[in-house]
Amino acid sequence: MKIAMIGSGYVGLVSGACLADFGHDVVCIDKDTTKIERLRQGVMPIYEPGLEALVESNVRAGRLSFTTDLAEGIRGASAIFIAVGTPSRRGDGHADLSFVHAVAREVGETLENDAVVVTKSTVPVGTGDEVERIIAETGCNHRVAVVSNPEFLREGAAIADFKRPDRIVIGTDDEFGREVMREVYRPLYLNEAPILFTDRRTSELIKYAANAFLATKITFINEIADLCEQVGADVQDVSRGIGMDKRIGAKFLHAGPGYGGSCFPKDTLALLKTAEDYDSPLRIVEAVVKVNESRKRAMGRKVLDALGGLEAARGKRVALLGLTFKPNTDDMRDSPAIAVAQALTDAGVVVAAYDPEGMELAKPLMPAVRMADSPYSAIEGADAVAIVTEWDAFRALDLARVKELAKAPVLVDLRNIYRPDDVRALGFTYISVGRD
Ligand SMILES: NC(=O)c1ccc[n+]([C@@H]2O[C@H](COP(=O)([O-])OP(=O)(O)OC[C@H]3O[C@@H](n4cnc5c(N)ncnc54)[C@H](O)[C@@H]3O)[C@@H](O)[C@H]2O)c1
Repeated sequence: MKIAMIGSGYVGLVSGACLADFGHDVVCIDKDTTKIERLRQGVMPIYEPGLEALVESNVRAGRLSFTTDLAEGIRGASAIFIAVGTPSRRGDGHADLSFVHAVAREVGETLENDAVVVTKSTVPVGTGDEVERIIAETGCNHRVAVVSNPEFLREGAAIADFKRPDRIVIGTDDEFGREVMREVYRPLYLNEAPILFTDRRTSELIKYAANAFLATKITFINEIADLCEQVGADVQDVSRGIGMDKRIGAKFLHAGPGYGGSCFPKDTLALLKTAEDYDSPLRIVEAVVKVNESRKRAMGRKVLDALGGLEAARGKRVALLGLTFKPNTDDMRDSPAIAVAQALTDAGVVVAAYDPEGMELAKPLMPAVRMADSPYSAIEGADAVAIVTEWDAFRALDLARVKELAKAPVLVDLRNIYRPDDVRALGFTYISVGRD
């Protein structure tokens, strides 16, 4: 089957490469000429483990190609995916649908055959209706079914998630739409990945409900971590103790500096806007958004406390280890590290940072921070070392060397990747999240 993927970012590029790997004939389209040029030269525009090899082998097999020309890219495609960005709209937090609408218009204007238009971007309830209306308004006289197919992959594990998903959600009442989508995902169906067919609005809402629920789980355990600090309990054991209950589940119960990334912050805000528009408040999600927002800066204060408080911190040096919102990606969108670095530099702290993949994108977001070429170079002369993202490279730091290089042996572990007793036994002052 010929498939067109419009938008070749984190989701479009991974989805396109995986669909090509299933044996489909895929064209990835993007309006960013530099991105497409680089992809044609085999240079990945993002860091995602395994992506380069997957793209390379499918290009070589003749199943995957790249273009900036939408009309050419969608020609003859039975399924046309929309995977462009839906960021928060400046000012009100609504999802900015201008990219999705622009693509719908261009597809309507240039389509030369019957096709299923699949919204893979995360879009508010009712967007499918709007896409359908826009395409009809262009005067397009081919048969078009507009289907919702939200994406649930996680950056850092995107290929495995796409190829072995917990579920595939397809929202449409149109039999043509269902038939084409069954064919798109047939290789996964054979692997027994559960497919949930539902109506389009329900499918759109499933994506937001899933992300809001996960954000709630994270925020819940973060508040429990604060309480643990007050009562002298250990949040990791609390997580284990509740996570073993199958009704709760162990995932997304790791206390830390608050959720960030390209999805949870904007999707929770957009869901709240939908709730407001339909006069059906989601008070739990409202609380989650507020608690998470204040948490990021509070983590900066935690590091300042480790330096002896706001007054004492001025002029001291901190090494930040990890800047991306999670490991195994270069994505810096809404990373908690931005707020932590800001709180520190606002207080006159001199900050050096190291991240295995995120420094290039981080640099413009934290201009006052010096980017170091290794964790140890960031640590040299530091009054405190703060682990902000749990990259594997930081799980086995040479702590003797850290102690030697740092000015003071203070470790603030915002991801709880070390065992307090082990680190304290080496003479460190160890500060964690929710473990005394
Ligand atoms: N990143 C994730 O982990 C993730 C996971 C699930 C769902 N999503 C959703 O998927 C969507 C895409 O997210 P992303 O992280 O891949 O975004 P991204 O910014 O990495 O990629 C979007 C791409 O679309 C391109 N684009 C914009 N307008 C275009 C147009 N008119 N024609 C052609 N290309 C155009 C941009 O140039 C960009 O390369 C969003 O709705 C997001 O919420 C993202």
